[in-house]
Amino acid sequence: MKDGFGREIDYLRVSVTQRCNLNCVYCGKTDCEKKGSELSPGAIGKLVGAFAKCGIKKVRVTGGEPLVRNDVCEIVERIRGVDAIGTVALTTNGVYLEKYAADLKTAGLDSVNISLDSTDGSTYRHLTGADVLERVMAGIEKAQSVGLSPLKVNAVLMKGVNSDGAGELVDLARKKDIDVRFIELMPFSDSGIDKSLIVTGADILAQFPFLKPTGQFEGTAEYYAADGFRGRVGLINPITKKFCSACNRIRLLSDGRVKPCLGHDVTYGLTQYLNDEDRLEEEIRKIILKKPAGHSFDTQTPSYGLNRTGG
Ligand code: GTP
Ligand code: 5AD
Repeated sequence: MKDGFGREIDYLRVSVTQRCNLNCVYCGKTDCEKKGSELSPGAIGKLVGAFAKCGIKKVRVTGGEPLVRNDVCEIVERIRGVDAIGTVALTTNGVYLEKYAADLKTAGLDSVNISLDSTDGSTYRHLTGADVLERVMAGIEKAQSVGLSPLKVNAVLMKGVNSDGAGELVDLARKKDIDVRFIELMPFSDSGIDKSLIVTGADILAQFPFLKPTGQFEGTAEYYAADGFRGRVGLINPITKKFCSACNRIRLLSDGRVKPCLGHDVTYGLTQYLNDEDRLEEEIRKIILKKPAGHSFDTQTPSYGLNRTGG
């Protein structure tokens, strides 16, 4: 269905937990270990069913870190079981991906996006607080070997922190069938962000002039190709090239509240209608109509951290 600005909303991002096993510097939250209430796989399936009746066709499972839930495969299975859902994807930091990739594929998962901000062990440890780079790389290999496709790597670069490792990340797209996407840093920490840290899409293009536009814009990312590359390089530019006017998303948080916009703090309750399918659908339609026009990151720092919205 269309929202109040005429945008077709057909993509639901489901945060299944606000817990995370990493503590990334830009995430800006220190409550990564707090569980809060988490919906059961059955409740998630039911809610996704109601969203599907309102036009949702693609679901992305997010967190926190979704793979800290040991019932994550059942969650995927329940979502896959909703007829109208064509694509089921998941965004993960990759630490537990080697363990779960095959079972996730069997459960019906199509594809994964993996957060990887550096291929250098000590920089990775500095950024995430954990010495697990090798496990993430093994997770990427495993995901490819079981056929989770397309495979995308997300990197948030910060000047003077991990920006000198951009070349190694670009090399992943050169050598492997992986789309590597650079994301402009968004202000999710409590104190906003130091804007001088932001590496923009234009900075990336200046550094890698061999990247050629493909004309492909998919949801958040503009894609570039280069001779001899197996994968593409994507630029996600929420700061310098706001893409809210093309937004097709809505979010379900791990406690069952609905958050129509990443950049706005407003949320709506839904779980009180879990046993009334008609009312559930009616409420979702009302919420979609209230989706804000877009973020205002230049003037407003959302107080919901990425551990709660999953991006
Ligand atoms: P696909 O297009 O399905 O691959 O998903 P995606 O790129 O949206 O998913 P992913 O979880 O990999 O997120 C990549 C980056 O896009 C993250 O930094 C997200 O925070 C950001 N992102 C996702 N949705 C939105 C949105 O609605 N608005 C903005 N500004 N950023 C978003
Ligand atoms: N700005 C931009 N992207 C971010 N991510 C996490 N925090 C930020 C931020 N402040 C990215 C992660 C992950 C995705 C879901 O969101 O790298 O890949």
